[in-house]
Amino acid sequence: MRIFAILQQYLPFINIHVNLEGWAVSLPKIYHICMRPVKMLDLHAQYLRFKEEIDGAISTVLERTDFINGQDVKEFEKELAAYHGTAHAIACANGTDAIQIALMAMDLPAGSEVITPGFSYAAIAEMCHLLGLRPVYCDVNPNTYLMDVGQVESLITPNTRVIAPVHLFGQVAPMEPVMALAQKHNLYVLEDNAQAIGAEYTFSDGTVKKAGSIGHISTTSFFPSKNLGCYGDGGAIITGDEGLAKRCKMIANHGQSVKYYHEIIGMNSRLDTLQAAILRVKLRKLNGFTAERQAAAASYDAALGAWPGLHIPARAQGSTHVFHQYCFVLDTPEMRTGLQDALKEKGIPSMIYYPQPLYRQNAYRQDISLPVTEYLCDRIMALPMGTDMDSEQLEYITFTINQYFSTLL
Ligand SMILES: Cc1ncc(COP(=O)(O)O)c(C=O)c1O
Repeated sequence: MRIFAILQQYLPFINIHVNLEGWAVSLPKIYHICMRPVKMLDLHAQYLRFKEEIDGAISTVLERTDFINGQDVKEFEKELAAYHGTAHAIACANGTDAIQIALMAMDLPAGSEVITPGFSYAAIAEMCHLLGLRPVYCDVNPNTYLMDVGQVESLITPNTRVIAPVHLFGQVAPMEPVMALAQKHNLYVLEDNAQAIGAEYTFSDGTVKKAGSIGHISTTSFFPSKNLGCYGDGGAIITGDEGLAKRCKMIANHGQSVKYYHEIIGMNSRLDTLQAAILRVKLRKLNGFTAERQAAAASYDAALGAWPGLHIPARAQGSTHVFHQYCFVLDTPEMRTGLQDALKEKGIPSMIYYPQPLYRQNAYRQDISLPVTEYLCDRIMALPMGTDMDSEQLEYITFTINQYFSTLL
């Protein structure tokens, strides 16, 4: 019975392959699709590909039992710093802690203002409120979804201390103008690089820098779904500033650098050694992972770019795109609901990043309005994305979207 249900679900797709290619070719494809449902991200397929290396790295830690602050944590910190071309990487428990630690390291006066996009994940807003700082939201570019730097200067007040761009969905925010503004007004720049590890930014003089190595300090997350994800929680702070690095290291370790001598208020935020061992294996593969994501995005672009009312993601000036997410915008909220329903009917997941502006969240509501942020929240959606997406899955997804749009004509 189950196989019939599955076949029925995939019937339109099956038919097109029957017509185009004949049973002999399409049956294995049908079998393959039936056996491998589309997920937003297939972590298991990636694990299987590198199982031997990952299992080996885990076994080594188990044998050494150096679970906390072990050898792999120290090596991973060095390798992560080298990958970014920066002097310091400090591993911690997750990307939200990394933001908290970075902000605490700046030692800002209470009420200091942090300018950050209103269209983003909640972590910066949340950590500002937790630390008695004030997030000041700017709007974003409607095509790249990144911080609209043109608006930032008008938001700077005597209380502003930090500009915190977010490298959303895998592209680097416009860092050249951000850095120029920060220098002019003597502000810190904190890059939230949870979603764009491995992306690169080219300055107008031709200098190329990795996302997360441009501002005074940056933070990232190793949440399993991230481009460099571990098998639990993890995060890191990256900086070229010796003083900030020293404070971050202490803050992540209860404010101490000598055991049981607490110099400043800190917290307990550690990346455990098992996660570090996994991340060391995966860091070596990150550029390959990026290429796989970019190939999947290119398939989406090629298949979907021509539909009126569907706006594929624009490439931000100066930045490469590492496609943490493949997000695009539809002309109306109704089109988005219709497309999500059509995908769901065929067993294809989709997501909305993000459905509500940060300043409309009950926890940190502000009485402001940012038109582009609100436009995007009502119309943006994300398709399955990751490494290990095969051409059958991509064809099936784009076929389903094309079928939905052809019914609208
Ligand atoms: C942009 C951004 N910042 C920060 C975080 C927080 O990372 P974590 O979940 O590791 O705390 C995330 C995680 O989703 C994120 O996407």
